[in-house]
Amino acid sequence: MSIRAGFLGTGSCLPEKEFTNFDMEKIVDTTDEWIQTRTGIKSRRIADDQTATSDLAYGAALKAMEAANISAEDLDMIIVATITPDMHFPSTACIVQDKLGADNASAFDVSAACSGFVYASTIAKQFVESGQAKYVLVIGAETLSKILDFTDRNTCVLFGDGAGAAIIGQVPTGGIIATDLGAKGSGGKFLTVPAGGSRMPASQETIDNRLHYISMDGSEVFKFAVRIMASSSKTVVEKAGWSVDELDYLVPHQANIRIINSAGKKLKLPPEKVHVNLDKFGNTSAGSVPIALDEAVRSGKIKSGDKVVLVAFGGGLTWGALAVEF
Ligand code: UT7
Repeated sequence: MSIRAGFLGTGSCLPEKEFTNFDMEKIVDTTDEWIQTRTGIKSRRIADDQTATSDLAYGAALKAMEAANISAEDLDMIIVATITPDMHFPSTACIVQDKLGADNASAFDVSAACSGFVYASTIAKQFVESGQAKYVLVIGAETLSKILDFTDRNTCVLFGDGAGAAIIGQVPTGGIIATDLGAKGSGGKFLTVPAGGSRMPASQETIDNRLHYISMDGSEVFKFAVRIMASSSKTVVEKAGWSVDELDYLVPHQANIRIINSAGKKLKLPPEKVHVNLDKFGNTSAGSVPIALDEAVRSGKIKSGDKVVLVAFGGGLTWGALAVEF
């Protein structure tokens, strides 16, 4: 009998500090009305100066391990999806491994921006189903506030901080039935942090030109997102041998309510089958899908036996979807 990988437990961790649209009005030329109508966001969480991505990742990991009823020694692998690592290296996954005392686990980061959790879960599935790992801890974690330009209203109103995690291991039935991953590197320029890497190392000039912050062509990303969220969901549903009518729930990347609604409409899903929490947390990039998943599982919206699609798009450009039977 072949091994089937699935989600054994989920968890999430968000900074306590809420930063509402009204707080945003005080620091940049924007309004609560503009942000809500153009994006659906009302508030987001912001990490304090002492909190790094690994701290949120660790908090989410503990909850996922508790839900799956496994201990740190049981972990064979830790994958952290993030674009806001604590530092270039060591990887955030290695920092989390140390914090957990998960001495039997290999550890590495995945860079696929907002699609990171879907990419990392797909990797975890391969290791579990090939018998090379029993328990993989997959985390999507970000402190995007640390790379936001709070003088740029085009970007700073959209993002927030947070982490979600899951334990992926063997399941008796169901599990991750199908996956769909993709990338379009030619669109990388539309969503980027230009400096601080080997192409443009940090210098006084890069700092003066604010090149260590997120820069984005919102309308290009929007067009891509509207197309890819629906098409990747359809692809993964087909690969799973399901029809869209059979779907019980969609857990989409939380970037913009207009993008989510457009995907729901194209898939002909009623709004109650689509998870939305971006009003509270904004776009937490790699944290977005696992935080939403954890919320949906813990609130009972996703039940045992449900057919669920997780779908994301993001910088790279990248996209990914999972068809999961819970
Ligand atoms: O995880 C992936 C991350 N990225 C995304 O998902 C982004 C996808 N894109 C979007 O969500 C949307 O394109 C935005 C929300 C970023 C922008 O919405 P839009 O409806 O495409 O607005 P726009 O860029 O066409 O801008 C409309 C106007 C502009 O003013 P003018 O040029 O028409 O006078 C902007 O300057 O709105 C202005 N604007 C703002 N006004 C108040 C842009 N940002 C703001 C703001 N507050 N925060």
